[in-house]
Amino acid sequence: MRVGLVYTDTNKNTRNISIDPHGTKQMNKTVEAIKLALENKNYEVIMIPADIDMLTRIKNANVDVIFNACTGIRTKKEQANVVGMLELLDIPFVGSSLSSHIFGLHKEISKVLFRKMGIPTPNSQLFYNADMKLDGNLRFPLIVKPEHEGSSLGIDEKSVVYNEKTLYEKVREVINTFNQPALVEEYVGGREFTIGIIGDKELKVFEILEVIYSKMETNFMTVSIKAKDAAGFECPANIDEELELKLKDYAKKAFRALELRDYARVDVRLDKFNNPFFIEINTLPGLEPGYSDFPKMAEKSGISYDDLIEELTLLAYNRR
Ligand SMILES: Nc1ncnc2c1ncn2[C@@H]1O[C@H](COP(=O)(O)OP(=O)(O)OP(=O)(O)O)[C@@H](O)[C@H]1O
Ligand SMILES: [Mg+2]
Repeated sequence: MRVGLVYTDTNKNTRNISIDPHGTKQMNKTVEAIKLALENKNYEVIMIPADIDMLTRIKNANVDVIFNACTGIRTKKEQANVVGMLELLDIPFVGSSLSSHIFGLHKEISKVLFRKMGIPTPNSQLFYNADMKLDGNLRFPLIVKPEHEGSSLGIDEKSVVYNEKTLYEKVREVINTFNQPALVEEYVGGREFTIGIIGDKELKVFEILEVIYSKMETNFMTVSIKAKDAAGFECPANIDEELELKLKDYAKKAFRALELRDYARVDVRLDKFNNPFFIEINTLPGLEPGYSDFPKMAEKSGISYDDLIEELTLLAYNRR
């Protein structure tokens, strides 16, 4: 089988490196690892840098299936543009459709869909500018984050705010730096978990991973903790069966709510009464071995990296 591996050519990546210092390295390592995994499984791999000419290149390469590892060309949002282009071909590709990526990229849209499906998510308000009035129903502490970023970009020690003054400072900073609305959410400060799902018609949920913040400067994932991979983790998470079943059930509902395909990673936190609140769903979760949560959870569920990459490839191939 010939697999086209679509990836971000980081030489062309014009994104301001200070906004995402870790991203380039992570992208390159991930693509190398996927290529190697596919070759270990005896697939022929054709490398396809994602750009505006890629459709012609893919057609000429005569591939059977596409593994899309492009997390955006210049911005994260462009991961959807790439998927939109791939949909124009008659070749199956790994991962969700364009509309599902858009639902997932926009945290506020995901939250609307979560609420419709009865999936609990923190109360929130979207700020298009820093002159908007704070919704009186929201209770401090609040967390301020960019509406459509990932890898904890825009989240630092000052992102959790306790009064209106610091709230508006952060809202202004996020809007100006990321050129997008700021999402203000009630801060849910209990245990944090992430949940990996794989499948298409049938869904499989991996062992749940708990993020551990002991000895950290914050109790939430800042961009620097994330980039340094400084937080601890426990997988399988030490939780009782009732909570485990509840989290897995909601995670699958979230996957269906966004009409996802093949794989995704859902982030969730508990409040002080151990009620879960779903924060977001990653439609193109990181796949860097030894770093990203998704392959860690797969491994703890008995699926090696090579097997994981093959399983994802076959999920797409079987749709042809
Ligand atoms: N409402 C919230 N309550 C508590 N913590 C939150 C909340 N929203 C975000 N966080 C914290 O901030 C981190 C990053 O938030 P979020 O997952 O929304 O951003 P992201 O950058 O898209 O993440 P990823 O790295 O998973 O792509 C979370 O892992 C969590 O620690
Ligand atoms: Mg997250």
